[in-house]
Amino acid sequence: MSAPKTIRWGILATGGIATTFTKDLLVDPATRGVRHLKHTVVAAASSSSAARAQDFLKATGAPADAKAYGSYQELVDDANVDIVYVATPHSHHYQNTMLALEAGKPVLCEKAFTVNAAQLRALADKAREKGLFLMEAVWTRYFPLSVYVRDQITAGRIGPVARVFADNSVASNPEVQWKDGSNRMVNPDLAGGALLDLGIYSLTWVFQTLYHTQPQEVRKPPKVLAAMKNYGPTKDADETTTIVLSFPRPADAGGDAHAIATTSIRVATSPAGNQDIPGIRIQGPDGEIQVFPPAFRPTRTRIILKDGTVEEKNWSQPGPGEGSGWHTGFGGSTNAEGEGHGMFWEADEAADALINGRKEGRYEGLDESILIMDVMDETRKQGGLKYPDKIETTKYPTQL
Ligand SMILES: NC(=O)c1ccc[n+]([C@@H]2O[C@H](COP(=O)([O-])OP(=O)(O)OC[C@H]3O[C@@H](n4cnc5c(N)ncnc54)[C@H](OP(=O)(O)O)[C@@H]3O)[C@@H](O)[C@H]2O)c1
Repeated sequence: MSAPKTIRWGILATGGIATTFTKDLLVDPATRGVRHLKHTVVAAASSSSAARAQDFLKATGAPADAKAYGSYQELVDDANVDIVYVATPHSHHYQNTMLALEAGKPVLCEKAFTVNAAQLRALADKAREKGLFLMEAVWTRYFPLSVYVRDQITAGRIGPVARVFADNSVASNPEVQWKDGSNRMVNPDLAGGALLDLGIYSLTWVFQTLYHTQPQEVRKPPKVLAAMKNYGPTKDADETTTIVLSFPRPADAGGDAHAIATTSIRVATSPAGNQDIPGIRIQGPDGEIQVFPPAFRPTRTRIILKDGTVEEKNWSQPGPGEGSGWHTGFGGSTNAEGEGHGMFWEADEAADALINGRKEGRYEGLDESILIMDVMDETRKQGGLKYPDKIETTKYPTQL
């Protein structure tokens, strides 16, 4: 076998998810059976100072010779960077991703890809014009668990999917946790609210089971009916959003199918941390597939067939393992010693695409990301939620 190819990453932003992603990226891919590629981090940039980028590199365990930049421009201009990972708030993704594409860099950009579909269309056009790889970092799509669920559907285990319930809700205490309203979860200037941050995962489950599993030539956009409740103190950020979708499907594929995607920062999929309630239910005439919370990082599935058969599976996240002294996690939670977070699967996909010349992610191409942004635009239109012009604009560059 030939030597693994190493992909050199540049990390754009130094916040919570950039830290988790970078730590995962530096886990040896052999721990998950991936032997044809490796990842390294050659640079990170902070919008505030090079010192902050240096601290970030140290905290994530990046190689000692990785460069620390105090501006995103320097990062995208670094000739040693093969691909840029964009991990700023969603309000900034359009500007930051365009910056990288303009500099000729492939990009893996955090979810939600952009604030609206017009911005994403402009990014997709730019990537296609320049022949550059571009992918939304919806990591869950690349989990072996998600591959398994899609395979069960296409193998016909539950018959044609007739209905999907998908919830991703995290009860927070916004008036206390994000009291001054500046946090990106509730701040309209940072495209705050449940839909773009959490609801994207409810829609991910709907689309990856009801849409992505259909042959490409018959996939059609869904009809959308939405209800939205805004968060009082900051007004233009949604607190709870509910979307009913109807997917047109050929009669011989089961006919039209329905989905309900829900999200909230006020109530939880897992009340009091009880994870026994399936947040995702995929229903067909022959049975049901259940996925247990959290929707973004699930580790448990159950299939219940019409004849009473029950198949339960647990999906661990690989990593350096027990005794390694290595820990990761996100926000306030820490995973078990040596257990990865699961962000490396999407990084492997991006690296593999660079090695093999693919320009999009295999499990969610740009057109599907655009369609999901269209659904979120329509949801916001029906719910009357508009963000400030400066973050909805496609004008590039715009100073944010
Ligand atoms: N995949 C997942 O599981 C997951 C989880 C959480 C978040 N996310 C996504 O990742 C993105 C970042 O979320 P996060 O939780 O990492 O946010 P965060 O902790 O607030 O970090 C965001 C970073 O962006 C940079 N930034 C640049 N301009 C900014 C501004 N005006 N306000 C705030 N930060 C600014 C800052 O780093 P520098 O200025 O130093 O560059 C900051 O540390 C969001 O789009 C979110 O949806 C994904």
